[in-house]
Amino acid sequence: MSEQSDPIFARIARRYDFINTLLSFGREQAWRRRGIVHLPAGRVLDLGSGTGAADPVLSEFDVVGLDPVPEMLRLSPMSDRVVAIGESMPFADESFDGVFSAYVFRNLTSIDETLAEIRRILRPGGKAVIVDLGRPRNPMLRLVHRIGSAIALPLAGLIVRAPADYWYLHKSLDKLPPVEELYAGGPLTVERTWRMGPFGFVYGAVLTK
Ligand SMILES: C[S@@+](CC[C@H](N)C(=O)[O-])C[C@H]1O[C@@H](n2cnc3c(N)ncnc32)[C@H](O)[C@@H]1O
Repeated sequence: MSEQSDPIFARIARRYDFINTLLSFGREQAWRRRGIVHLPAGRVLDLGSGTGAADPVLSEFDVVGLDPVPEMLRLSPMSDRVVAIGESMPFADESFDGVFSAYVFRNLTSIDETLAEIRRILRPGGKAVIVDLGRPRNPMLRLVHRIGSAIALPLAGLIVRAPADYWYLHKSLDKLPPVEELYAGGPLTVERTWRMGPFGFVYGAVLTK
């Protein structure tokens, strides 16, 4: 595995799944599953696959896991794993039926470049399913959520002795526009978006080539 490591995920790799389950009240797999039902059968890329947490719910697909952080990928049960970034993927044009990506898009260096790469590697009619965290749509709920995450995330970070990394996670929730705007006008067609979780701060999107 080559080394192109994101220092945050390299540091928290071993504690990632535990803290993710804690912070999502055990719902993070259900939120992935709600997206996965929209994937077409066949060869699927798990973009930013991390520790391979989606592996059990991707069992009916021929899955390739891609992640830039070897420390995360090393913990993954996926048999086909590639160290790379979403912005530049070492795959042939039109070589995947679907792309799945959970809790990754806030961490990308370039969403535009990654979406262009997804379009390139998808076969015509292929689908990308994206699940990620953001903020509630309603301004009042957004404020409540922002205050809550400013308290809860650094506390969770203390448990795993990485408070600064979890402060970054709190900040990252405000990084992107809401899902209803984020993918519109991009290289893929927005088929549907939806919100889940407390106050709707988790989103799903299905994009088609
Ligand atoms: C919050 S974790 C999510 C992991 C996994 N998808 C899951 O559902 O548990 C975010 C992952 O995105 C990866 N990542 C960060 N920057 C990336 C990039 N530019 N391209 C692809 N993956 C990236 C990180 O290494 C990390 O494993």
